[in-house]
Parts: sequence; structure tokens; C-alpha cells
Amino acid sequence: MDRSLENYQEEIFAAGLDGAVPALATDLSRLEDAARSRLRPEVFGYIEGGAGAGDTIAENAAALRRWRIVPRMLTDTSAPDYAGEVLGMRLAVPMLLAPVGGLGAVHADGELAVARAAASLGVPAIVSTTTSATIEEIARELARSGAGAQYWFQLYWPKSRNVAASLLGRAQAAGYGVLVLTLDTPMLGWRPHDLDRGFTPSVRGIGVGNHLSDPAFCAELAEPPADNPGAAIAHRAEIFGDPSLTWADLPFLRQHWDGPIVLKGILSAADAERAADAGMDGVVVSNHGGRQVDGAIGALDALPPVVAAVGDRMTVLFDGGIRGGADMFKALALGARAVLIGRPYVYALGLAGQDGVRHVLRALRNDFELTMRLAGRPRLSDLSPDALVGPSC
Ligand code: FNR
Repeated sequence: MDRSLENYQEEIFAAGLDGAVPALATDLSRLEDAARSRLRPEVFGYIEGGAGAGDTIAENAAALRRWRIVPRMLTDTSAPDYAGEVLGMRLAVPMLLAPVGGLGAVHADGELAVARAAASLGVPAIVSTTTSATIEEIARELARSGAGAQYWFQLYWPKSRNVAASLLGRAQAAGYGVLVLTLDTPMLGWRPHDLDRGFTPSVRGIGVGNHLSDPAFCAELAEPPADNPGAAIAHRAEIFGDPSLTWADLPFLRQHWDGPIVLKGILSAADAERAADAGMDGVVVSNHGGRQVDGAIGALDALPPVVAAVGDRMTVLFDGGIRGGADMFKALALGARAVLIGRPYVYALGLAGQDGVRHVLRALRNDFELTMRLAGRPRLSDLSPDALVGPSC
């Protein structure tokens, strides 16, 4: 097992002596351009696209740019330390892979390639509900690829309570340590990139593995999925999300999940407080990468009020626009305990499979470490809002 995330820079320069250069860009924001020219248009559109005119995606990037790092000098940065603990788990670096569904459309090995890359580097993966490989297959791949691999399960809460309970039971039995309930997607947003091409993975039967393998789901079908896949896929679409859910439904999760529960998609202090009052263990401040509500608040702008409201009561995580070490630094300085990496690893998966995902994780960690040291804040405990100037300063 190779857990070497560090010294990627050194390794790249050493390989350069023999004329080799990295297969993918080391500026991770440039992976999008490479993917645009090399992936199938409908696949690129599925990854890149957001809701409506893409205004929320732009705002995620703008919010990150509005905060600026103020480097400090002569602080002894010889021994950086960025290992931390999140929900009882030790993270070598405060990042996780965001749950991303439909990866089977991006690469033939989809979630399994991602699992192998994440586990080989000791980076926890949050596994989506909408995968082609099943919960159990991905858990096995993760465990095979890295001793002590950590994996979390993301739930899209379906209309059928039997199916919800069954998915939770399977994830728990397969060893997923934390439950992430995504709140912002009771139905898909209006996504012109997909609509204009008439393409979304699940309607093509991609990313439906967990449902079609689920006994509770199959019990709701007139015929087994193998005999009538079209009907199974249609039923899965019908029960995909439950827009009737309210805060009063959360105790159901506690009945069926024995471990930490994190709510993903929180953008207001008021909702964060409700989550804490409901006994949840954490929140992910996230607007789903701008894929659900166009014209929404930039994710980073939502972070400080959430941290102020609940940071001392629960774990606050963050995603939305993380493309480099400086972005990570800013989110952590504003109070996130760890960040979720999204589109960069998905582009890299499409461009170079498992190696591409490893490249993204190694580049990001090295860039983050260098940013901390060069900003004169070499330990996680040094990261606080006074490392930044921002809109309200
Ligand atoms: C997502 N995201 C997502 N979230 C989730 O909870 N379950 C899912 O299945 C998916 N699927 C998904 C597919 C694709 C193609 C993308 C790009 C995103 C949202 C994801 O977890 C995360 O919130 C965003 O990707 C963060 O934004 P950036 O940094 O990728 O722009």
C-alpha cells in the first residue's frame, strides 16, 4: 500500500530530469478545460453543469476569491502538521472525497477506481447512493486497497421507508462509518447542460446499482430487475427523493443508523441550529456544487455564519469550488474541520482513471501543505479567520 501523499513536487521535478512531465495539469482548475476537449460532451456536461445559468457555480468561485490570505513571516514552518480528527476518525489531511453519483458514465471502473485511489492514499471517500457498483462491492474494494480505509455513506432518502431502512442497514453492515444525508436534492435541479443533451446517467441505468440490488426495492417491483430493467429504472426514478421530508423525520435515521450523522446541504445558520438541536453530529456547508438552486449564496459565504452558530456544538465540513491548496486553507481558516473535493477528482477520473484521482489528491495535499507553510501557519490549529482578510473585514 502506498500512502505517500507528500513530496509530490519533489517527485515531479525528479521525473523531469528524465524528460517526464505529469499526465494531468498540476493547476487543478485546468482539469476542466482538458475534460472539455477530451470527454464525451454529455459526460463533460454532466460533471461541469450546474443549475440554470450557472450563477451559483460562479458565485462559489467568487466567494473563495473574495477572501485573501495574509502571509506571516518567521514563524518556524519546519514541521507542518495537518493531521486532524473528524467525527472520531483520524484524517491524515483534512479532506475527503465528496459523494458523486453516476461515475459509471465517467469511467468504466467508476466508483471502484475512485475507491482504489482514495484507499491507497488514506483519504476517506464518501460513497454516493447513486453508484453502479453496490455499497458492498465498493466497501470490499476500499478495504482491499488500503488497510484502515475509511468510508462514509451518503443517502438520498427515498420515498419508500422500507428502501431507506434497507440501504442504511446494508451500509452499516458493510462498515461505512458515518452517514451523510444529502438534504438539497429531493429532486434534480433544472440543469440545462443535461437537458440540452437529453442525458442524465440514472435514466440510462447508470448509478442505479444500489437500488436494483436491494431486496426491499425489488419487493416493490412486479418483476425482478433482470426481467424488466426498464420498469425497475422507472420505479427507482419515482421513489428517488422524498420532498415531503421535514425536521420531524430525522429520528427515523437514528433508529436505523448507529453512528455519526452529518447533514449535507446546509447554507443558513438557522438550519445549522436546527440540525444541532436535532442531535445531528455535523453539517456540510454546501450548495451541491451549484447544481440545485441557481442564484444561491456562494458556499464559502455561508460558512462563517454556520460556524458562529454551531461550530462549538457540531462538526462543520465544507464543499463548493475547492480547486487548490489556497481554497482549502481559506475554508479551514473560516472554521471548516475538513473539506470535500468534488469536480477535480471526477474530471481526473474521466481523463486518467484511478491514476488521475491519485494525482488530484496528491497535488492538492502538497499544494495545501505549501500554502500553510508559506503563509506562516504550519499547523491546523494556526488556521483561524485572522489568517485572512475578507468581505466583512
Ligand atoms: C455531485 N454531488 C453529489 N452530492 C451528493 O450528495 N450525492 C451525489 O450523488 C452527488 N453527485 C454529484 C455528481 C456530480 C457530477 C457532481 C459534480 C457533484 C455534489 C458533490 O458532493 C459536491 O457537493 C460538489 O461537487 C461540490 O462542488 P465542486 O467543488 O465540485 O464544484
